[in-house]
Order: sequence, then C-alpha cells, then structure tokens
Amino acid sequence: MPHDAIAVVDFGGQYAHLIATKVRRLRVLAEIRQPEDDIARFRGYKGIILSGSPSLSAFGEDSQYTKAIYDLDVPILGFCFGHQEIAKHYGGTVTHGGREWGPADLQIVGDSPIFRGLSSTERVFMSHFDSVTSVGPGFEEIGRTVLGDTGTPHRYAAIASESLRRYGFQFHPEVDDTVHGGEMIGNFVLGICGCRPSWTMERYVEERVEQVRQQVGDQSVFLLASGGVDSTVAARLLGLALGPERLHLLHVDNGLMRKDESRDVLEAFRQFGLDRNLHFVDASDAFLTALAGAVEPEQKRRIIGNTFIEVFEREARSRGIAQHLLGQGTIYPDTIETGGTKRADTIKTHHNRVPIIEDMIAQGRVVEPLADLYKVEVRELGEKLGIPHDLIWRHPFPGPGLGVRLLCSTGVEDRAGFDAFEPAIADVSAQYGVPAMALPIKSVGVKADLRSYEHPVLLGGSASWERLVEMAGHLFKSVSGINRAIWNLGPTMPARVRPLAATVTRERLDLLREADHLVMEGLRRHGLYASIWQCPTVLVPIEVDGAGREFVIVRPIHSERAMTATPAFLPPALCDELRTEILALPGVSGLALDITTKPPGTIEWE
Ligand code: XMP
Repeated sequence: MPHDAIAVVDFGGQYAHLIATKVRRLRVLAEIRQPEDDIARFRGYKGIILSGSPSLSAFGEDSQYTKAIYDLDVPILGFCFGHQEIAKHYGGTVTHGGREWGPADLQIVGDSPIFRGLSSTERVFMSHFDSVTSVGPGFEEIGRTVLGDTGTPHRYAAIASESLRRYGFQFHPEVDDTVHGGEMIGNFVLGICGCRPSWTMERYVEERVEQVRQQVGDQSVFLLASGGVDSTVAARLLGLALGPERLHLLHVDNGLMRKDESRDVLEAFRQFGLDRNLHFVDASDAFLTALAGAVEPEQKRRIIGNTFIEVFEREARSRGIAQHLLGQGTIYPDTIETGGTKRADTIKTHHNRVPIIEDMIAQGRVVEPLADLYKVEVRELGEKLGIPHDLIWRHPFPGPGLGVRLLCSTGVEDRAGFDAFEPAIADVSAQYGVPAMALPIKSVGVKADLRSYEHPVLLGGSASWERLVEMAGHLFKSVSGINRAIWNLGPTMPARVRPLAATVTRERLDLLREADHLVMEGLRRHGLYASIWQCPTVLVPIEVDGAGREFVIVRPIHSERAMTATPAFLPPALCDELRTEILALPGVSGLALDITTKPPGTIEWE
C-alpha cells in the first residue's frame, strides 16, 4: 500500500462513508470494507474502524462477519454497534435498554490516549437502543454519560483495552454534533495507529491519473459531459491522464435540461479549452419518445439512463470513435443511493447506475475517476485542477435533469391510507394553529436508510418559518405515511386538491424550465445563489382551481454531502416576487416552498 491506511468496516447504510471522509480529512487514506470480506482484504492496514449500524443489534444474536479481524495485531475502534461488538467479543455483555437520542455529555474517566487533548466533559451525539453493561478482562470504562433527567450514570459509553489496543464508543464521533469527534478520530488514526498523513489531493490526482492510464491502455475515453461539476472535473482529470487526443466529450441535450443550458455549457467548455474533441447531439426527441406515457419514478429513471447509453453508443459509432471506454463523472452518493453497497437500500437508481451500465462496469468498460469522492471533495479537487470558480460552485444538477422534477400521474386519486393519517394530521394542525392537508400525490424520500414513496402535507397560514419547520418535524415523527411538508405560497389555502393526468411532454418541460429560471434569477438577485447548496424547482400535476393548471414547488436546501439536507429560509421579499412571477405563468395555479429535511424527504422529489 503506497500510503498508511485505515479500513472502515461498513456495517450499515450511510454511516461508514462519513467516517472515511473524517479520516481522509486527516490526510490518511481510508477504504471501505464489507463485514464479510475475506480476512486477506483487511491486511496491510494500520488500523480498523467498525461503523455503527441502523438495523443491526449486537444484543442476543451472533452477528456474522469476519471476526478474524480481532486476531490482527492492529488497533481497532468501534462506534455504536461496532462498540457493542468489541465489548461482546472480549467477554462483555450487551443488553436492551439505556436508550439515548441526541446530544449527551460524556464524562471522561482516566487518561486514555484516545481522549488526549480533550476536556473532562465532552458533548457527544448518541443514537442507540442497546447498551454495553459490562466489559471483559483487560477492558475498562474510559467514559460515561448521564441518562436524561434521572441522574443515573450510563456506564461504558466509552471503553478501552490499552494493551490490546481495542476501543469502543457508544456515541458517533463521525457526526458533526460530537463537537470534538474529529479530534477523537485523529487521536486514534494518527496517534494510536501511527498513520503518517500522506494522502493529499495532489497524491490523489497522481494516483488516479496512473490508474486511468492502466485501465484505459491505448484505447480512448468517451465521456458523457453534462457541464455539471462532477463531469467537468472528471473531464479535466481524464485529460491529464490521456491527453486531449484520446478524450472525447459528448454533451447530450436530452430535452430535460434547464433553459439555455446546452448553449451555456458548450460555451463554458470552449472557454475552458475542453473543446478539442467536443461533440454535441440534440437527442431530445429520443428521450421524450422513450419517456412517453411513463409515470412511475424508478421507471422514468431507468428509461433516461438507458437512453443515455443508446445515444452514446450511436454517437460513438457514427463519429468513428472505436475502442472507447465510457467515461462518467459518478461520485460516491450516486453509488450508495442506488443500493451500491451491500446493506444500502435502493433509494433511487441514479442515471449512471442503471443495469446496462452495471454490466459495462463488470466488463471493465467504464472509467469513473471520482467514484469514491463526495461533492465537497470533488469541488476541492476541481479547485486544484484550476477549473473556473463559477463552474465548480454551480448548484448540483441531477443527471436525469428535469425528468425527476416533473412529476407524472395517471390522474387517478390515490387516497389509500388517508383515513388513517388525516386525523393525526388534524391533531398536529390544531396544536400548532396551522392549517394542514395531505396531498393526493406521492414523492420519493428516505426513512431510516430505506426508500419511501409517500404523500406530502401542505401547510397554510402565516406562522413563522421556525414554527413551520418545527411543525414539519413533529408531523414526520408522529404521522406515518407522509415524507414531506410544503408551505403554501399561494394567496389562499386550497379547499380541495385533485391530481391531473400528466406525462413527460415538451410543453410541461418548457413550463418547468420557465419556473426554474425565475427561481434561479430570484436567488441571484437576492445574493443567495452561493449560500444555498441546491434549489430544485418541481412541477407537480395537481390542480387547485378546476382549470387543469399545475402546482410548482421550490426546494431550497443547505447541505454538504447531499446525504442529509436542511430546508433553507427564503426572505419574504423573494417569496413575494416568486409568488407574483410564477403564479402568472400560464398553466400554473399553485406555488409552495418545500420545508422538508433529508431524511425523511430526499433533495429531489423522485
Ligand atoms: P437526493 O434526491 O437523493 O439527491 O437527495 C442527492 C443529490 O444527488 C442528486 N441526484 C442525482 N445526481 N444522477 C446524478 O448525477 C442522478 O440520477 C441523481 N439523482 C439525484 C441530487 O440532485 C442531489 O444533489
């Protein structure tokens, strides 16, 4: 291994990658390993971190994974489930109970090197049902918390055997809410494991360049270049590895782009000197024909992904680009949301992970130089590679484009479950004094790491932003069957909302393009474009006025890695302008602001 590295064992969902990111921040390479990987795959690391798990319990059952890791003479640190497993493996006990949610104060006991440089009390983040209640020989308690208002100490919140170099934390140091979590991970990685911090973006570039050269050999790469952050950074990296002759860029207008997008992207590529082998195809007819009649979100995503490949293969043939590999700017969340690691559920099939592409990956025909990075890291890399600031800091735009922001419907009213959750919504509505109604349409979300396809709730009235967001949180906790809350920006709360039959058409896309353009202009006018991470505008086929006109939703969010998100506040003046401009578009009868966190909603609606 060219660098000192840490193996992070992925026991579940979305946690392991945050740990890996925190380790990389320390300039130490971190690689994800699956729990059942052969022991040979754990050799060569300077230390191992066991992640938490949303679905596994160390209580009662004998968890199946490669336990031979405990025989390796390297330090091991476990979080939450991983902590309980370490305790159990070395003769301790885990029992149900002692549940803690949210922030807690950790009182540090003794002077373990893992807490070096920290205070005697540290704010940590807890999320567990089960607890370690005793430890085996050679282990000791190095931290405890106090349970709620009871004053009862929660023992063994942190444990260690300094001689074995085994450590466990019941809390999650990888989340930002554990204030000095980064320092604790640093004490383990740099101190206890003795890793030398050699993993830098420069090294990353060198290594990726070398890997790309090896994979591609004397062939060429044909990269799908949308003009977004990821594919542009990928283009630059591939250009460095292969030289301009062997890199072809294909920009496809799939008919699902923003207003004037293709024109602007081609211009930016030219200015940036990426136009040596730049090809453009207007394939909007092919995409819209393939999408005709499709309604279900996953079906739409598959059609878009497949059509990209058909267009790509056709263009490669017609331009005589023989012996090519497919290049993509896939980044890590695209893989994980598609269920790309063993324990992750398919939340949505990203366009660059449809089955045809999975087959091509298996045949070694796909080059994805950014597939293990998060957006923040891609941007950092883009800066290093000299890509212009504006290109790097554009809002992310999904590969399937407006296709996942143009909801479709058979027009048949879906009120299954309404009888059960309407009374519960009415209770919360009365408690907050805010009118609320469930809408007869569904959108995609993510709950406890699993995909959900559920109804939004429309809130009305003029309560403060904070109160609306608080009420939305309350609704998600107390009412099952809903995964989004939107706040009505129209002049009155509608009395009745009906679904409209609608599919993907050029006319609806043009309407959405106009609405999206107004939102983007509004954000720029108010100086908010840079501080808001992403702001999808969504066209939803529901009507409030009996005239067949649709609903527009604006979804401004803050995020860092797209794995979680919080709704962003828009100033009332901007909301007023959007109300006037968007409700004046022919074909629009309603407007609302999405105030949903992720989870339980995803950033996109499909
Ligand atoms: P969600 O909606 O899952 O989105 O919270 C997380 C981030 O990923 C983007 N996204 C995609 N990007 N291909 C992409 O390249 C896709 O199929 C895709 N689907 C969602 C989304 O815009 C957000 O930034």
